[in-house]
Amino acid sequence: MKTVLSGIQPTGNLHLGRYFGAIQNWVNLQNQYHCFYGVVNYHAMTMPYDIKKLIPATWELTFNLMACGLNPERIFVQSLIPEHQELAWIFNTMTGFGELSRMTQFKDKSQQVQSGKKDAFIPSALYLYPVLQAADILIYKADYVPVGKDQEQHLELTRNIAQRFNHVIKKEYFTLPEPLFTEVAKVMSTADPTRKMSASLGEKHHIDLFAEPSRIRKQIKSAVTDTGERTDEMSPGVANLFSLLKATGATADHDTLLEDYNKGTLQYGHLKDVVATALVDLTTPFREKKAEIKADKKRVKAQIRESSAEVRKVAINTLLEVKELVGLLSMKY
Ligand code: TRP
Repeated sequence: MKTVLSGIQPTGNLHLGRYFGAIQNWVNLQNQYHCFYGVVNYHAMTMPYDIKKLIPATWELTFNLMACGLNPERIFVQSLIPEHQELAWIFNTMTGFGELSRMTQFKDKSQQVQSGKKDAFIPSALYLYPVLQAADILIYKADYVPVGKDQEQHLELTRNIAQRFNHVIKKEYFTLPEPLFTEVAKVMSTADPTRKMSASLGEKHHIDLFAEPSRIRKQIKSAVTDTGERTDEMSPGVANLFSLLKATGATADHDTLLEDYNKGTLQYGHLKDVVATALVDLTTPFREKKAEIKADKKRVKAQIRESSAEVRKVAINTLLEVKELVGLLSMKY
């Protein structure tokens, strides 16, 4: 069985965009592959963050992932596996300064931190972020990494690091991981459908996956559409409602309503009702499961610690081999 690895940062809340863009796919991959899913809290420290909120956010995301159907045995918390850091250091010696400087995410995020300030503090961790990501992936010798287009460059760097490592030790030790671009829905903000749904845009721009049905209905009801005048192209707001509907799996409803749209008989109020109902139907079991998890928090936390310890065995094994390969003395575990 091939290995899949992916990671998600405990920042922001889990909204429909993140669910349809990644998590839904992760759940589906579980049956076909040997999966590792990391809650990458070390990565979350690379941007300004609230110390008091990081641990609660880490647990919250873990619970949310489980509520969506991820097997807790496949979930680990990055900071419970310190070997990632150790491997990252070794990889730092095999990563070019220029290579990291070309990462667009680094450029974007350092600009974000700077945002006009003259002496903004840019942590080196932001710069080294992709090297830690490479360690996350290679420590489990992943074959596939399901990621969005925004992470393509990081995966390419991971492949370069793996290749350089193999070259340095003159052995095909790491297989080069491939990106796994599954077709996922790109969900836009319902308040501004020209922008991607994102927690950082603010309250009205994203729909929380665990929101109460009344809130989901309200947000869909106020979604931007168009004036109803016929144009050649579907407006971004209407297109977004259609893609949300499709993403929930309600394809029959989707196709019927699309026909109505094409005939010019579709009422947007009706479309919104159908979309809201589909979203409520999809998320109700998640909300229920989350309530169960939260009622049993202590046991679930212990379970995640245990699964992380189990996953750690794989990481320890790789790291021992790597240290020997690069000439580092190591303690036998
Ligand atoms: N950089 C990824 C993101 O922001 C998160 C991440 C960290 C990741 N480590 C990873 C993704 C390993 C895939 C594999 O989305």
